[in-house]
Amino acid sequence: MTRQIAFQYVGGKSGVLKYLFPDNQEAPSFNRYYEPFVGGGAAFFYLAQVRPTQAWISDTCPNVINTLIQIRDNHVALTNLCIDNVRKFHDRRAYWREVRDGYNDITDPLQKAAAFIFLQNFSLYSGRGAAILPAKNARMPRPFQSLSAALQNADISLTCFRSTPIRKNSLYYFDPPFFGQHHTYSTKFDLQDHYDLKLFCDKVNKKGSYFILSLGHHKVVQSLYDGYHLTRIARPPPTRSRGRGLGAMPTDGEVIVRNFKN
Ligand SMILES: C[S@@+](CC[C@H](N)C(=O)[O-])C[C@H]1O[C@@H](n2cnc3c(N)ncnc32)[C@H](O)[C@@H]1O
Repeated sequence: MTRQIAFQYVGGKSGVLKYLFPDNQEAPSFNRYYEPFVGGGAAFFYLAQVRPTQAWISDTCPNVINTLIQIRDNHVALTNLCIDNVRKFHDRRAYWREVRDGYNDITDPLQKAAAFIFLQNFSLYSGRGAAILPAKNARMPRPFQSLSAALQNADISLTCFRSTPIRKNSLYYFDPPFFGQHHTYSTKFDLQDHYDLKLFCDKVNKKGSYFILSLGHHKVVQSLYDGYHLTRIARPPPTRSRGRGLGAMPTDGEVIVRNFKN
């Protein structure tokens, strides 16, 4: 099975899918999937292949949401624009800087999505999330056709996790910014947000639905989610996140919290 994601993303979870959804895990039964911190959607696109179901995906980053909507609604034109961007970059590396510096002036949603994917996939980022250098190589993108098909079953919202509906018979996957990484994304995520997310998880649990949450290892996580099932990933495979040496994510491992046994 080929695993495709929408774009490379800081904190992207393609490297830890086997821990989030282990093969031997008895899959909880659910008929709706919610992912309120969707980013590049590694988990969403994986589950759409193995357990297709109606889904709600959301994020507070307008660029992320616009890009997912363009993949859903305009995948052929978007694929062509992305191929075009890579060709131009192969011709001359200065093209990367032109895209980066002109990014904020792009108003057309399709062009904006193509530029966003290009910068996400082929940039080195500072710890504060600024694209500072082009990547050495740029591979031709794969067509977005299958991702578009997966997104046809999804409600896509530009909204905070607090607005996610809490329903029965559902699986929720939460992948919030790590503790201490609240400057990395377009909106901050501080300690209060982490406390509120914990209360949100409690409500999902009370409703009888399932949740999976991934977070960077931190003693606050241990005490906050005491009473749920915690799995520590001692040495997660490096995600191809921002940095690759420049401002990379912390490597102290991750914790997966569940309200069911795996
Ligand atoms: C760790 S990333 C998610 C990565 C994603 N799982 C992937 O595989 O690409 C966290 C995401 O949470 C979003 N975010 C930050 N604050 C949020 C909030 N209050 N509600 C919803 N999303 C938020 C960020 O914009 C970012 O896209």
